Amino acid sequence: MALFHTTSEVEKLRNSASLATVGLVPTMGALHQGHLELIRRAGAENTETWVSIFVNPTQFNKQDDLVKYPTALEKDLSAIHTIDPSIHVFAPTVGEMYPEEIVAKLYAFDGLDRVMEGLDRPGHFDGVITIVAKLFELIKPTRAYFGEKDFQQLQIIKNWAAKEHIPTTIVPCPIVREANGLAMSSRNEQLSKQARNEAGFIHKTMFQCVDQCQTKKELYACIHAAFATKPTFELLYAICVEEDSLKEVDVLALAKKPRLFVASSIEGVRLIDNIALK
Ligand code: PAF
Repeated sequence: MALFHTTSEVEKLRNSASLATVGLVPTMGALHQGHLELIRRAGAENTETWVSIFVNPTQFNKQDDLVKYPTALEKDLSAIHTIDPSIHVFAPTVGEMYPEEIVAKLYAFDGLDRVMEGLDRPGHFDGVITIVAKLFELIKPTRAYFGEKDFQQLQIIKNWAAKEHIPTTIVPCPIVREANGLAMSSRNEQLSKQARNEAGFIHKTMFQCVDQCQTKKELYACIHAAFATKPTFELLYAICVEEDSLKEVDVLALAKKPRLFVASSIEGVRLIDNIALK
């Protein structure tokens, strides 16, 4: 497996003539099955696969969250190697990606950031697009793979790539879940064993409430009532939005591609999930 730590090494390699199609899986490491699925898919659809591992400081609006973010480089490299030893891994330092100031560029997201994670984590998406833009410029992927667990991130990346005419196809990939239904996330590592076992409650509640409710009002009430029975699970938001615009749906029955989004905090760990309603 080829491991690179510097932008100049990657630049040199990517600028040398090649007919390969390149699939990129951008990650912040602490890889789980969800990431490994993205990597396998990139491998199946491209002649060359790149995985980036970089905990991007500019997308964390709380220093504490950044410090606590899990890292496991050796384990990640071995998991990637098991999938395919010919995969290219780019694991730069902060200085390499931000040689001058550690700041995000500011972007206009056409309102896609005015809900959910964008409201709760100011500047988060500016940080995400800043690093994705740097990675795309360097690695020049034909396709880039993102999980639907971070659905708002995915829509914001798609919108940015379309507006900037970025010649990379953004490939959305379905959420991969733990056996109890919990959406896979590197953050799950931060939960105690008990909380992780119980956290299947989030998806179960979403699924049951969607099944039982006809209107948005009923759906919100159902989710709030379920969380009220579980004081260790703080409900940060529950909202139904239309998939493309991320605008809150008005009348559920008339909505175009509605999706339910929930964010919850357990033991101080932020967990997000979403399901399509139609
Ligand atoms: O989804 C993530 O892990 C990150 O937000 C990403 C896309 C790798 C950018 O740092």
